[in-house]
Amino acid sequence: MEIIKVANAEEGGKKAFELIKEGMNNGAKVLGLATGSTPETLYKEMTASDLDFTDMTSVNLDEYVGLGGDDDQSYRYFMNDQLFNKKPFKNTYVPNGKAEDLAAECKHYESIIDSNPIDIQILGIGQNGHIGFNEPGTPLDSLTHVVELTESTINANKRNFEKVEDVPTRAVSMGIGSIMKGKKMILMAYGEAKADAIKGMIDGAVSVDLPASALKNHSDVVVIIDEAAASKL
Ligand code: F6R
Repeated sequence: MEIIKVANAEEGGKKAFELIKEGMNNGAKVLGLATGSTPETLYKEMTASDLDFTDMTSVNLDEYVGLGGDDDQSYRYFMNDQLFNKKPFKNTYVPNGKAEDLAAECKHYESIIDSNPIDIQILGIGQNGHIGFNEPGTPLDSLTHVVELTESTINANKRNFEKVEDVPTRAVSMGIGSIMKGKKMILMAYGEAKADAIKGMIDGAVSVDLPASALKNHSDVVVIIDEAAASKL
């Protein structure tokens, strides 16, 4: 793992953007994208840039079960709002949280990942070490699946909802195995709340107890962290 320390999320966004730009110059065509607060500064850099994404495909990590693109708390809405409406891509994939048959949707999404191999995967990390919505205990070879969100994740995400009861309790998420299929991983983390997860991922053993630790088995991982997220290393 290559660790890059930055002063703040703005600098982290710039760093990640440079890596994406370099990847695109070297032929990257598919970006794996994340939602949440962490990648917001990266998406700002992307939208402010003169880079053209109209030949690019994106594949997002996850979506809440029950929410569709018109719901402003859905991850599809977030992505359209933060990035795709400003910088059009050729194709953008986000799991369909409103699919009637969720098992079929998971299979279908995994086939999308296989037909669009991800060149660069953007990741945030949960306070409990999750990547995507793969909570502790998720098998490291898991593929796209339906996830029951933990209390810690529901609490961390409630800021986007009026009340905690409104936060969906399930999501469709790429599995850890699906994420690991990507060629290059860029994981970003900012703030003290992420310090334990970062410490566990970097200094701990590979374990289902900390899903992000699976990245230790990947050969090309860049970790971009600020001082607070790095404070326990
Ligand atoms: C989002 C995702 C999650 C987040 C993580 C951190 O698509 O897959 O793993 O990256 O929960 O969230 P933030 O960035 O809001 O702290």
